[in-house]
Amino acid sequence: MCGIVGYIGDKNSVPVLISGLSSLEYRGYDSAGVAVLNDGTINIRKTKGKVENLSALLLEHPVSGKLGIGHTRWATHGAPSDTNAHPHFSNDEKIAVVHNGIIENYQELKDELEAEGFKFSSETDTETVAHLVDFYYKENNDLLEAVRKTLERIEGSYALGVICTDYPDTLVAARKESPLIVGLGEGENFIASDIPAILNYTNKAYILDDRELALVKKDEIKLYDINGNEIQKEVFTYNWNVEAAQKSGYEHFMLKEIYEQPKVVKDNLAKRFTDDGKHIVLDGIALGKKELKGINQIYIVACGTAYYAGLIGKYLIERLVGIPVNSDVASEFRYKEPLIDEHTLVIVISQSGETADTHSALKLAKEKGSRVLAVVNAVGSSIARDADDVLYTLAGFEISVASTKAFSAQVTAMYLITLHIAQELGKISEKDFTEIKQALEKLPSQVNDILTKAVPAIRGFVNKYIGSKNVFYIGRGLDYVVSMEGSLKLKEIAYLHSEPYAAGELKHGPIALIESSTLVVGVCTQEALFDKTKSNLEEVKARGAKVLAIAMQGNKSIEEVADDVIYIPRTHWMLTSLLANIPQQLFAYYMAKDLGNDVDKPRNLAKSVTVE
Ligand code: G6P
Repeated sequence: MCGIVGYIGDKNSVPVLISGLSSLEYRGYDSAGVAVLNDGTINIRKTKGKVENLSALLLEHPVSGKLGIGHTRWATHGAPSDTNAHPHFSNDEKIAVVHNGIIENYQELKDELEAEGFKFSSETDTETVAHLVDFYYKENNDLLEAVRKTLERIEGSYALGVICTDYPDTLVAARKESPLIVGLGEGENFIASDIPAILNYTNKAYILDDRELALVKKDEIKLYDINGNEIQKEVFTYNWNVEAAQKSGYEHFMLKEIYEQPKVVKDNLAKRFTDDGKHIVLDGIALGKKELKGINQIYIVACGTAYYAGLIGKYLIERLVGIPVNSDVASEFRYKEPLIDEHTLVIVISQSGETADTHSALKLAKEKGSRVLAVVNAVGSSIARDADDVLYTLAGFEISVASTKAFSAQVTAMYLITLHIAQELGKISEKDFTEIKQALEKLPSQVNDILTKAVPAIRGFVNKYIGSKNVFYIGRGLDYVVSMEGSLKLKEIAYLHSEPYAAGELKHGPIALIESSTLVVGVCTQEALFDKTKSNLEEVKARGAKVLAIAMQGNKSIEEVADDVIYIPRTHWMLTSLLANIPQQLFAYYMAKDLGNDVDKPRNLAKSVTVE
């Protein structure tokens, strides 16, 4: 989603802003712009399209200056266009603003400002902020105070960067429900919506909390609460390095991230068992026998890919532990008056730790007295900071919009959480625990095995099925859940209409859609359900569908119904989803690539969805 970067120092800000915006490209956007102050004038350059279009515009119409703000916009109010792109100016062009988030009461504010004589040139909600700051600035020429008063008037979410011609040495920033950090350099400072934007210069930052402001100069940073009181904060050090945000020879970040999965799974299992191997160690989680005994239900809440990782957790916890587990996508959970209380454990899952709906779900759960365990990848993110307990997924930077390694890390986390709860509550025998542990330890090399062997076959299928317009993913139990993730991946990057369906439910309607051009991906790794799913595949085959199956080694009879089969190494029934998903990822990746799509930055999508 939208990205912000800002610079104040002795360098020309433009290259810093452009490199920052380029590092935020992965988040998804449709226009880009910069505002740069020099000699008492702010110059804005902005354009629809990619950051490279902005760079081309800057070559044609150069600007420079030691203070600047930059933005990549993902359209919410008003189409992607040069005019709607940020930064936005006040009418006298003294103040420029970049904004992430949504101003919910913008129409009311706009009417008020228009009545005062302010002229609007864009269709964005953000422009109201530029005019409001201007309105309050005219009261006493105090930029920080003008921004603070503006914040008191706006409803919704914001990360803001503001500059003013009267303040050539100052950048004002503020945040509510949309991430913003203030990066600390030497003789220079930064603001950014996410650390990659400034990682070339610093890995130290203040993380702003909701309704906080920053007054940033090249060698001084002051932080304030919404009432204007100065506050102190600790400096946060990010451990991520610049190399992690590079493709390292891979054609796409997605492919690189797919190939990082053996290591990611290994890292997530390392140090998760006591020395004698008999217990799980989950650092940062105070959920022992005593706390768990007071829990009578679990709720798992997340969005997108993280939600499917959560669904895997639901199936496993219910089966192993015997506690009822509800699950919801966060956008539904937050408005449905969920039946939760202090006896509910709410598990939220998020790669970015900034997804607006998931974050709101967390806050709602806490309001209702539930304990919240967050499974999060981004250290220091809002969700991680607001949860009662955090299990970090140690997947490193995930740049590609389509989530791959983060999903495998989340699923591994769900395996560990399930085992932990089962063991604390005495629901698993030592023998079963040991058997699952041994199977877990084989996962990294089994993922590697699939990555090494499956690619030629998958490229062959892609070649064969590239004309498919409709794809069903079917399975039962855990296979059904993982097929949802497979189908999502294909939609996201290959732009193919694809639906996941419970294999047994297909005949209650969707089978009417099956014809000779339909591709059906059958996930049949659950041996207890193998024959059932195989029969469902026979039914679609009889109606002309082409069948691509994913099965466990040894279950060769699947070849009787499938046109093509990908085998995954044998593992414990609990763990098949992680392995079955690897060929699904590769299938979506090569399909998207061969269709000529922008694999890492699929159309209309954003990596981190910080608006509702
Ligand atoms: C977006 C991304 C998905 C991701 C989802 C949840 O839709 O494109 O890849 O699964 O948000 O994101 P989170 O950061 O909360 O896991």
